[in-house]
Amino acid sequence: MDKVRIRNLKKEDLNAIVEIDQKVLGQSRREYWERKLETMDARASQTSFVAEVEGRVVGFILGDVSGWEFGVPDTIGWIDTIGVEPDYQKKGLATALARELIKNLKSLGVKTIYTLVRWDDWDLLQFFRAMGFARGDMINLELKI
Ligand SMILES: CC(C)(COP(=O)(O)OP(=O)(O)OC[C@H]1O[C@@H](n2cnc3c(N)ncnc32)[C@H](O)[C@@H]1OP(=O)(O)O)[C@@H](O)C(=O)NCCC(=O)NCCS
Repeated sequence: MDKVRIRNLKKEDLNAIVEIDQKVLGQSRREYWERKLETMDARASQTSFVAEVEGRVVGFILGDVSGWEFGVPDTIGWIDTIGVEPDYQKKGLATALARELIKNLKSLGVKTIYTLVRWDDWDLLQFFRAMGFARGDMINLELKI
């Protein structure tokens, strides 16, 4: 796609991200994103990107490097969330965002990238599969209380 610019995510991108998230999920999560971007530290802002088309933010990816949380070493990186505005999907934007993040994580010493996807979220599963992701060693456990 022409005129796509991938750049670091900034706190000022809040409105655009809330809007994309709402279009993708069908519900507004402004407070969630406000909190998330507010607590985003310098490190996370280095590993999170947006895609701009003609100056408008139409996609984002949030990544991070593990600081030994969950007992995993800092050679582990995470993809937290990825979203592309419906009108701009299937044009390679998520691929461009993920490639930039992967390049960045690699330069920070990351050797493996983790992400969590709902088992029935086919779009995301297909996307990650197309990016070369496979099932990992971690098992997701939960207890309903
Ligand atoms: C999954 C998602 C990020 C893909 O974005 P995208 O920009 O359309 O992805 P790309 O164009 O880079 O697609 C790359 C590859 O992924 C796969 N893929 C992407 N979307 C797909 C879909 N809906 N169905 C099947 N395969 C898909 C394809 O293999 C595709 O390659 P191709 O176009 O050559 O076939 C986008 O559909 C999205 O934002 N979905 C909602 C995600 C979500 O719920 N996020 C949490 C809240 S924001």
